[in-house]
Amino acid sequence: MNALQNKNIVLGVCGGIAAYKSPDLVRRLAEAGANVQVVMTGHAREFVSPLTFQAVSGRAARDTLFDEAAEAAMGHIELARWADLILIAPATANTIARITHGLADDLLTTLCLATRAPLAVAPAMNQVMWSNPATQANIALLSQRGVSVLGPGCGDQACGETGAGRMLEPLVLREQVAALLDDTAQSLAGKSVLITAGPTREAIDPVRYISNHSSGKMGFAIAAAAAKAGARVTLIAGPTTIAPPAGCQVVAVESAAQMHQAVMEQAAQHAVFISVAAVADFRLKEVREQKMKKSADEITLTLIKNPDILADVAALQNGRPFCVGFAAETHDLENYAADKLARKNLDMICANLVQSGGDSVFNSDDNALEIFLRDGGRISLPSASKTRIAHTLVDLIAERLG
Ligand code: PMT
Repeated sequence: MNALQNKNIVLGVCGGIAAYKSPDLVRRLAEAGANVQVVMTGHAREFVSPLTFQAVSGRAARDTLFDEAAEAAMGHIELARWADLILIAPATANTIARITHGLADDLLTTLCLATRAPLAVAPAMNQVMWSNPATQANIALLSQRGVSVLGPGCGDQACGETGAGRMLEPLVLREQVAALLDDTAQSLAGKSVLITAGPTREAIDPVRYISNHSSGKMGFAIAAAAAKAGARVTLIAGPTTIAPPAGCQVVAVESAAQMHQAVMEQAAQHAVFISVAAVADFRLKEVREQKMKKSADEITLTLIKNPDILADVAALQNGRPFCVGFAAETHDLENYAADKLARKNLDMICANLVQSGGDSVFNSDDNALEIFLRDGGRISLPSASKTRIAHTLVDLIAERLG
């Protein structure tokens, strides 16, 4: 299937000599079925006329935030939502710096800030500008945030120098963009993935329990993404009200003890274990057989520690899977996540920040992750839908599995 068919691409064009290739890139993307809206920076007009882009894309090129007619037809926020991908080609050192630092001083940089779509940049500049530590630091930061950096190529440059900094050719860029948008890519084909999701419930008596706000959305999205990536997925879920994802074997449990048992029975048969569940750390020492009466003004419940499911899986001597933990923290995210990574002997930990009120992560449709790796690496996934975060995470895990 053609991954570009009916995809909406905002093509950002900056002011560099490589902009002469951008009309051809528009044509190549359109040939493959994509809808392309060109957004030019002010300097891009010095190199290519907006009329050229209008002719090849069938849409008037946009270049200003303050265009009443264009805003009335499709406002810039609508345009940011319309995009399935924002590709900046050529991306100059200046625009790369502006998006790295979150500037929104023209239409293109504003769209980059306002979109939830993935962002790709195809750098094009003089080789000394490319190797400048400032540019390299900006590129490293963008990559860490999940921006795809396509190229640059190496070779003769318009300025007469030779080196890295050439924009990739339109056909190569089209191929790379298609790969980015190909959600049928089977990066986990032949692999088996075990996932826990949702909360656990620790019974107090036959009608009461201790639990937390986990909805299961994050874990279910990861299960769906792993299944879509070709994995055989077993999902061990605490009590949730959302529908289980298609194509997964679902085991429903209630308590941490049941989740522990179900996971330990299965873990060694899976290549990957992703522990997304918000497992209760404690359970009642004694669960009452009958409903507790509220005759006393004060009661004391004695809690004892639950087994740590993730740590037990990561300690397996035989058949230990690649272990991915989650950590929801209200503060000091980095330190707590790093501590859990080391203490539980994990390969990767995904930390998410719980802001006051709790809705920023628990039960929300969106999330943002700071991912810490065993080898000291760190990757930031900025705020996006849990579905999109799940797909990126699955790809990161697949890369690490080789
Ligand atoms: O379900 P949603 O509403 O979408 O919300 C998603 C989420 C917030 C629940 C999820 O993104 C998340 O962060 N899950 C981990 C919650 C947490 O803070 O876990 P923890 O710090 O208590 O535990 C760290 C890790 O050990 C987790 O991977 C956890 O699954 C695991 N653990 C913890 C305790 C225990 N007894 N056994 C475990 O396996």
